[in-house]
Amino acid sequence: MIKNTRHGYGAVAILFHWVMALLILGMLGLGLYMVRLPQSDPDAFALFQLHKSIGFVVLALAVLRLLWRAVNPSPKLPAEMPVWEKGVAHLGHTGLYAMMFLLPLSGWLVVSASPWGIPTIVFNLFEVPHLPVPGDKAATEALASTAHEYGAYFLILLIVGHVAAAFKHHFIARDETLKRMVRPARGARPIPGE
Ligand code: HEM
Ligand code: HEM
Repeated sequence: MIKNTRHGYGAVAILFHWVMALLILGMLGLGLYMVRLPQSDPDAFALFQLHKSIGFVVLALAVLRLLWRAVNPSPKLPAEMPVWEKGVAHLGHTGLYAMMFLLPLSGWLVVSASPWGIPTIVFNLFEVPHLPVPGDKAATEALASTAHEYGAYFLILLIVGHVAAAFKHHFIARDETLKRMVRPARGARPIPGE
């Protein structure tokens, strides 16, 4: 199935999930690595350009993913899950989606407000214009940079909790939650126990 059903994810949602998971994990590693390089490092400039380029891909995919999500049913969580656990799962997913926007947008604001004025050339192909920054550019840059850095730490926490929850479902509760993010739903097959 291409589309989601009430019982499972379709191929498109699964592809979005794993492509974006890889990109975002890579971006966290790249971001933490590149900011620790000395300014004189010959690779620093190219790594920052790569970080910004992939960041814009993440932003574009996040928009498409939410649009796709809006026109699809959301698979129901296992019926045996307590209400509070379902609430935590929904809150966690909302936080993950929020960070997919907050990180690229705050990063974009950092480079737009920066006194360096370095252009962003996405994969050396085309330039993404800077956002207009009215008022105090230094203060905006400091605020955006703090949001970007602490947003990244918060995202790491969310991902650790998210992966721990996925493993708990798979190895302890032994339900279909992880499997259905791997195998696309086939028709209206209900989850056992629902
Ligand atoms: C999924 C998207 C993104 C993730 C996960 C991410 C993650 C990170 C991380 C972990 C750091 C290191 C933070 C630190 O220790 O200071 C960082 C730094 C940075 N990122 Fe991103 N980033 C993303 C998107 C972007 C985008 C789209 C841009 C710009 C267009 C950008 C520009 C920067 C810049 C300029 C820095 C240097 C530190 C600063 O001045 O705040 N990032 N990023
Ligand atoms: C790398 C290990 C990861 C595993 C094992 C994993 C596993 C899962 C599973 C099993 C689900 C389905 C939950 C359900 O059925 O309700 C899910 C959903 C989701 N995951 Fe992950 N995930 C991983 C990484 C990530 C990362 C890095 C992100 C983003 C930063 C992410 C964002 C999401 C979001 C937003 C959903 C909700 C999808 C929706 O219902 O719209 N995941 N994940």
